[in-house]
Amino acid sequence: MKLFDVYPLFNIEPVKGEGCYVYDKAGNKYLDLYGGHAVISIGHSHPHYVETIANQLKHLAFYSNSIQNPLQQKLATLLGKLSGCDEYDLFLCNSGAEAIENALKMASFYNGRTKIIAFDKAFHGRTSAAVNITDYEKAKAPINKSFQVEFHPLNELESVEKSLAKNDVCAVVIEGIQGIGGIHMPRPAFLEALQDLCQKYNTLLILDEIQSGYGRSGLFFAFQYANIEPDLITMAKGMGNGFPIGGVLIHPKFKAQHGMLGTTFGGSHLACAAGIAVLEVMEAENLVAHAGRLGCYWMQQLYELEGLTQVRGSGLMIGVEFPYSVGDLRKELLFNEFIFTGSSSDPNVMRLLPPLNLQTGQVDYFVARLKKVLQVKTNQVLSSVAV
Ligand SMILES: Cc1ncc(COP(=O)(O)O)c(C=O)c1O
Repeated sequence: MKLFDVYPLFNIEPVKGEGCYVYDKAGNKYLDLYGGHAVISIGHSHPHYVETIANQLKHLAFYSNSIQNPLQQKLATLLGKLSGCDEYDLFLCNSGAEAIENALKMASFYNGRTKIIAFDKAFHGRTSAAVNITDYEKAKAPINKSFQVEFHPLNELESVEKSLAKNDVCAVVIEGIQGIGGIHMPRPAFLEALQDLCQKYNTLLILDEIQSGYGRSGLFFAFQYANIEPDLITMAKGMGNGFPIGGVLIHPKFKAQHGMLGTTFGGSHLACAAGIAVLEVMEAENLVAHAGRLGCYWMQQLYELEGLTQVRGSGLMIGVEFPYSVGDLRKELLFNEFIFTGSSSDPNVMRLLPPLNLQTGQVDYFVARLKKVLQVKTNQVLSSVAV
């Protein structure tokens, strides 16, 4: 049997990870500034994470959601404490897209509506409803287009308001910071006005923090830069540091009923052990504040480089825009400098999404290597002009 060929692959085979580095089978050491799509939050193979999961595995990896599993409550309590969202309830699932599906269901259960507002360049996942509210036509099959979705420009309230005023919108879904779209931030004032409008028209506000959450922005959730209290908050990537786990934070205004949501694997003993270890390390190493501080320092270094169009982001979620497509630049960084960076749906934007325990020296190293690669590029252009 062969694999269904849906991913373009780099010819690199990582076999080991440690902190902010991964090692390939030839023994090359790479600085990981991408964290495997923003997934690695506390660093590769963190000893506390490895030990906690290994211990749990020795006792019990899995039983169904029909028995007492106190690890789920332990995870919820820690999450409430670190996120400042203690009054919300937690529903555990397995991935970002599954978290979005469940958030959309909760919204639709609540007000009985089906129309969704999302934003240009949004990415919310690839399952049925999640892909329908994603701004990426190629990934949508006819079966996904089963309810009405409107895409509006980010940070433009007027068009959203016009639509909400029809009183038929189930939910507005917005990323805390747009990730795959190329690191675009909703302005705090926009989020605050959006929440007011949602409340006025009985529409629910869903914050997708699957990529921007779990400390990446320098606050636990990126929406916390605004003064809002979303109805539903979705999480995944950083939550398990590579172990598949997702979750929805559900505002107390929703009433739970047995059977309305469910999953076989979500909230398993092993997933909870991973999730608890992540939060324990984040707390012990103060990673949220560290991400905020280091991100400011990093962006300052990048602002000073020549040849970039724009640097934007928050914490360790940074987009670097160039006046040309970044494909070759990223390949040079990967194959010549041994540095992983990320792409985005905007060909000119490189995404930086490292583990949250990245250090200043590693930032300096990257900036120096980028400077060198850009200098070589400039020299090549100059010499071709001279010829
Ligand atoms: C903002 C956002 N939402 C949802 C998803 C989907 O998550 P998953 O791939 O775990 O289904 C992603 C994945 O990249 C994402 O970045």
